[in-house]
Amino acid sequence: MLDTEQPQGTLSLQTIAMPADTNWSGDVFGGWLVSQMDLAGAIHSERISNGRCATISIHEMTFLVPVKVGDVISCYTDTLRIGNTSMQVHIEVWSTTPHREVSTKVTEGTFTFVALDKDGRKRPIPDEIKKVYADKGKA
Ligand SMILES: CC(C)(COP(=O)(O)OP(=O)(O)OC[C@H]1O[C@@H](n2cnc3c(N)ncnc32)[C@H](O)[C@@H]1OP(=O)(O)O)[C@@H](O)C(=O)NCCC(=O)NCCS
Repeated sequence: MLDTEQPQGTLSLQTIAMPADTNWSGDVFGGWLVSQMDLAGAIHSERISNGRCATISIHEMTFLVPVKVGDVISCYTDTLRIGNTSMQVHIEVWSTTPHREVSTKVTEGTFTFVALDKDGRKRPIPDEIKKVYADKGKA
């Protein structure tokens, strides 16, 4: 990874790794990070589709560096593709300490969310939203 690499996407969630997020060795659980990514992706897809969404799939992920208690975790989200009811969202996680400027990419992955109605059934993404993404070649 180049030192000049920058986070891609919109900052959708920021939090701090706490002692309760660690395993018996004091390292932060990968599952905790996946859960932060899932929350960030849900915020992103609910914002795009104007309503409730659920995660339908998580693609392959690699954890590049460990996260320590006290690290500030930032999740950046970017829409890759909009379907009829689904949204593919690329999510990057970067970490830094509260008083350090440099941040490091921890992991990234692609999550797919489906827009739901109030009864939990899939619902079409509004045409005007799909058109915006079609114009960008993402639908
Ligand atoms: C979300 C849900 C309502 C979708 O219903 P469904 O009848 O299975 O929907 P479909 O098979 O038609 O798929 C819906 C969309 O998801 C996409 N999709 C389905 N499986 C997918 C997969 N494995 N990866 C990526 N996209 C997928 C489909 O291509 C379709 O997209 P499109 O409408 O944009 O073309 C249903 O699967 C569900 O409730 N799943 C549980 C979700 C959940 O609880 N998540 C949290 C886990 S705790």
